[in-house]
Amino acid sequence: MTVTKGLEGIVATTSSISSIIDGVLTYRGINIDDLAEHASFEEVAYLLWYGKLPNQSELDELIQKFSEYAAVPAQVLEQIKLYPSNTNSMAALRTAVSSLALYDESANDMSQEANIRKAIKLQAQIPTIVAAFARIRKGQEPVAPKSGVSIAYNFLYMLTGQEPDQVAVKALDQALVLHADHELNASTFAARVTVATLSDIYSGVTSAIGALKGPLHGGANEAVMVMLEEIGSFDNVESYINAKLANKDKIMGFGHRVYKGGDPRAKHLQKMSRELGKLTGNMELYEMSVKIEELVTGQKGLKPNVDFYSASVYTTLQIPRDLFTPIFAISRCSGWTAHILEQYENNRLIRPRAEYTGPVDQKVTPIAER
Ligand code: ACO
Repeated sequence: MTVTKGLEGIVATTSSISSIIDGVLTYRGINIDDLAEHASFEEVAYLLWYGKLPNQSELDELIQKFSEYAAVPAQVLEQIKLYPSNTNSMAALRTAVSSLALYDESANDMSQEANIRKAIKLQAQIPTIVAAFARIRKGQEPVAPKSGVSIAYNFLYMLTGQEPDQVAVKALDQALVLHADHELNASTFAARVTVATLSDIYSGVTSAIGALKGPLHGGANEAVMVMLEEIGSFDNVESYINAKLANKDKIMGFGHRVYKGGDPRAKHLQKMSRELGKLTGNMELYEMSVKIEELVTGQKGLKPNVDFYSASVYTTLQIPRDLFTPIFAISRCSGWTAHILEQYENNRLIRPRAEYTGPVDQKVTPIAER
């Protein structure tokens, strides 16, 4: 047996959804740079599910379906009200998404038609859950979703109860495009492992949310903000980072299993961070981030990943830091569900082996002698 720790370099499936070849990320063969500049998140979700960009009427129909499905069952909102006040935001999302299945009569319908409908429904409802959780924990009532608007608009609207600023909507929409899919990342793999047992799509997405929560994956964007807050000001960056590196601590938002020459999504978020900083007249987080990059890349050769500049972008948009990873989940739901649909189409149980390293030839010792 050859053991490959972390399955590094192992090709576990074929997929026609997204690819990372020579450091270039594409969704269905379209470069992420092109999509980030020229497509909305709704168009990208359609692309991931159906394999092609929608025409205008297909896009209108998808937005209409999102509007139709965006409200979540009242029972789910009532349950969120019962969560302990210090509930972790990703734990809340994982629990609420799991409970959505209880109120969907078609939860266990494995037809392709039902599964694509549930994919669209999950995509519509996850933003509603995140926004409702954020309000309920502050003692506010959830805001009902608006019809006919984009997911980025609706999320900001449901979060604050106010019409969002167009610049904020555009920035969030672009961030959603950039996070939508990423080949066989840890959470997508978790989703595929779960549904490869022919379990349902809600179980797959619940598994994926659990995997995304960790700081080595989606949780890194929040961890970056914790670090920026700990540093406090531009003048403290150098001593803080040098001490961390000397201590061999990991710097969150840097490094990647697949990209060694840099994450192609990071430059878009860096640009967004700079532009939002300029627009709001507060460049400190951006400047601190650039300085951190200079030090970490200079000393360790590590480049920022998608999570690094997301932290300053979302903070400038006045989004609380523990919603950064749930926003990642809002976006990645499109990729997870596309992969789940693809897994069902050509399924085989995913069941690798482990090399046993424990004791052998043991016997049951009578309990009194243990
Ligand atoms: N800071 C400092 N050193 C690092 C970092 C980092 N962020 N990332 C990797 N290294 C070092 C490791 O310490 C290790 O050094 P060593 O060989 O001297 O022991 C070497 O680089 C290889 O790192 P691994 O952790 O083995 O790489 P792996 O491919 O297993 O992990 C990962 C990749 C998890 C992304 C890692 O780079 C990391 O922990 N980064 C910080 C967390 C983060 O930003 N995660 C988000 C990733 S993007 C995403 O999931 C959306």
